[in-house]
Amino acid sequence: MRLVWLALSVPIFLKVMGIGFLVTVLFGGVAFHQISVGMFHTHYQVHGETALSIASALAERIAPLLSQQQIAEVDRELTNTMNAFPDVRYIIVQAPDRQIISHGFAFPQEAPADLLINNKNLCMGCHADPKSFEVTTGLMDVPASKLKLGTGRIRAYQRREGLILEAWASVNDERQDIIRLGVGDRIIAKEITSISRSLFWSLALCVAVGLSLALILTYAIVRPVHNLLQTTNQIRDGNFQARADVFSQDEIGQLSLAFNQMAEGLESYREKVREKEAIRQSLLARIVEIQEEERKSIARELHDQLGQSLSTTLLSIEAACKELPSHADRFNDVKNGIRDMIDEVRRIAWHARPSILDDYGLDRALERYTQEISKLLPFKIDYQYVARDEAGRLPNPIEVTLYRIAQEGCTNIIRHARATQASLILLRHDHEVHLVIEDDGCGFDVPALEKGSRPPLGLLGIRERVALIGGEFTVDSSPGKGTTLRVRISLENEREGG
Ligand SMILES: Nc1ncnc2c1ncn2[C@@H]1O[C@H](COP(=O)(O)OP(=O)(O)O)[C@@H](O)[C@H]1O
Ligand SMILES: [Mg+2]
Repeated sequence: MRLVWLALSVPIFLKVMGIGFLVTVLFGGVAFHQISVGMFHTHYQVHGETALSIASALAERIAPLLSQQQIAEVDRELTNTMNAFPDVRYIIVQAPDRQIISHGFAFPQEAPADLLINNKNLCMGCHADPKSFEVTTGLMDVPASKLKLGTGRIRAYQRREGLILEAWASVNDERQDIIRLGVGDRIIAKEITSISRSLFWSLALCVAVGLSLALILTYAIVRPVHNLLQTTNQIRDGNFQARADVFSQDEIGQLSLAFNQMAEGLESYREKVREKEAIRQSLLARIVEIQEEERKSIARELHDQLGQSLSTTLLSIEAACKELPSHADRFNDVKNGIRDMIDEVRRIAWHARPSILDDYGLDRALERYTQEISKLLPFKIDYQYVARDEAGRLPNPIEVTLYRIAQEGCTNIIRHARATQASLILLRHDHEVHLVIEDDGCGFDVPALEKGSRPPLGLLGIRERVALIGGEFTVDSSPGKGTTLRVRISLENEREGG
């Protein structure tokens, strides 16, 4: 299974080339084999038949000479035949008792082994030393069926110098002499070798052309696929203008076209989303701005108008109290009530928008805020401000944003955390400012809250406000492990802008 997977994972280039190579080599090999075998059979068929017909013709010619015992004439006929057919290796005219009556030119070196080994003295007439008849070459019969020759009158055997086909023909019916005519394959083998060689080179050429075509075809397929892959990667990396090259009209070309259309759709969709996001951001910025303005004006109204009116009322009541001392107790109750109202109005005004934030900056406002809010807790929220001495005030939108985030964070500690300690740290670097709000309370499951049906509006509000001024916000919390809110705002843009 793993092997199949590995094989399938091989690049397309190798797959197509591999198939091309296998097909051409396999086809070439099989064709070469078939043609060689066919050629071999046909040649030997023809060769065997030729040997037979030479033997028969010779038999007819020497039959009368033999019956008249003209052996010298017979010898001449044999020599003539051998001269006429260079492939004939030997001719033996044999009596029924296997005695040799006459033999052809190359005898005994070319004679068949059965004759030599079993009947060493059969040719004493020509060869004085019977030992020289011994032929040491290994004799091996090639089955006639393999050569597709009819059995009986022809046989084949292999000698070191090549294949020998031996044809048998009877000379005349009464004497039952026979002719054994051996034909070598030197000429024919040479021809077969030369034909095979040219066949091999033709097939090699076919394989080379086939492979080159496979190479071109593979390149034609793989190139657009690679191009498509590159374009996909570019789009994945955010380059939505990237488009695939269209090389042809085939399926891959159409795929590239469809891909480009999809990329265009994606780009215009992204553009729309961007526009909408920009509108949403500016609306949000406007809302926050108006909200702050309103809070500011409500705080001012409460403090200046209502607070003043209540103070004036208090003064009038004090004056009235002096005029009517008998009602002092009643007046004191009213005066206390009005004083409480003044405190409440101031508290509300202060929470809506502390003037200290506008007048003295974020550090002082947060210090004051943590003091005030700690009154609602069994412990004091630890506040720290870390900055270089000469660090001036932060831009107003950043100060307001960080103040509101601190408010939401501290309110959450009071409402949800059940903490025993909490801290608020404002860290000011040259290029960025950090706000960290930390508690050791019950914590909460952040992913579960984000997936839940009720949106965490307070935390979302923080996220939106931070996004508006291009900052980063992270919540780090898990049940039982406390909560840490981190805000990071870059001051680079502010500097460039202002
Ligand atoms: N400091 C905290 N400690 C424990 N839980 C908190 C803390 N801050 C927020 N939470 C949890 O996150 C939820 C969402 O908070 P928030 O968005 O401020 O909404 P709200 O305060 O209106 O519930 C809270 O209901 C509370 O369960
Ligand atoms: Mg909240």
